[in-house]
Amino acid sequence: MLALVTTPNGAAPVEIRELPEPALAPNEALVAVHAFSLNRGELRLMQIRPEGWRPGQDISGVVLQAAANGAGPKAGTRVVALTDNAGWAQRAAVPAHRMAALADNVSFEQAAALPVAGLTALRTLRHGAPLLGKRVLVTGAAGGVGHLAVQIAARSGAHVTAIVGSPARGRHLRGAEAIVDGIDKAEGRFALILEAAGGASLAAAIARIESKGTIVIFGNSSGAPTSINFRDFAEHPNARIQSFSYFTSEPEERFAPDLALLASLIADGSLQPALVESSWRDVATIGPQLRDRRIAGKAVFRVEHG
Ligand SMILES: NC(=O)c1ccc[n+]([C@@H]2O[C@H](COP(=O)([O-])OP(=O)(O)OC[C@H]3O[C@@H](n4cnc5c(N)ncnc54)[C@H](OP(=O)(O)O)[C@@H]3O)[C@@H](O)[C@H]2O)c1
Repeated sequence: MLALVTTPNGAAPVEIRELPEPALAPNEALVAVHAFSLNRGELRLMQIRPEGWRPGQDISGVVLQAAANGAGPKAGTRVVALTDNAGWAQRAAVPAHRMAALADNVSFEQAAALPVAGLTALRTLRHGAPLLGKRVLVTGAAGGVGHLAVQIAARSGAHVTAIVGSPARGRHLRGAEAIVDGIDKAEGRFALILEAAGGASLAAAIARIESKGTIVIFGNSSGAPTSINFRDFAEHPNARIQSFSYFTSEPEERFAPDLALLASLIADGSLQPALVESSWRDVATIGPQLRDRRIAGKAVFRVEHG
């Protein structure tokens, strides 16, 4: 089969190579991959992993062979799945508890946007539950996680303020009551703030959190540090900063139900991922656009077979 591997010293950061078929553990299904998506975190991994490493966490496709232990979807089921790596390939081994079936009206491209970004959006928002009637601020709202978080928060009854780098970056957003270019311009206080830019953005988030509110920090896209002093919380007593990792935030067995929930939101029309779609032969071209904040929503790639 064909698969993408890292080539850190090559002309491009990845290339397609002929590789052996995946070896399956008893709890793993064989999935024919039809689409995958690229995450900002994977851009970094492509740089630091050794030659020949196999990237790929977010995939969608069709189960070719169910897991030998009988768990998970049957052969022929269209699925969305989260893999540790090696998902950017024509076929992938996927633990049965890391995938969920797709309704017929959910495309492979839409589904591929869900695993890392959708789980991060869904699970960071849970730190503010119940969201009904609450003010929620989302930084990096133009990006993969951010635009899904805005929609899920709005669907949950929150009043959402979306922070974008420029007005043009907010054009694809749905669900926000306010789209603001720069967190410094966001008005009022918020019960929940999703913060992934870091640096000055995190400092500005502290200045905007309600007392007893929660700032979930889940990234540092700017690479900048933040200086924090206890006195910063003088007007925001008992607010807290919660760190977050999508992978360990909830038990392993919650992956399939959460992926199923996200897929169901697409199926019922309440979640509409913004997609920039390409062939998997174009990862090296799209990667720099994601790094340079020129992708609106999620970069997804179709995997060609035959
Ligand atoms: N902890 C976890 O489990 C977890 C899971 C997924 C992602 N993450 C992290 O969360 C962040 C968002 O992920 P993502 O997939 O949504 O990334 P993304 O699609 O690249 O979106 C990030 C957004 O952040 C905004 N941004 C603000 N300041 C930035 C800066 N200095 N450099 C780059 N972008 C900046 C950009 O929007 P504007 O251009 O409009 O400002 C961009 O659209 C990343 O740092 C990622 O590594 C963490």
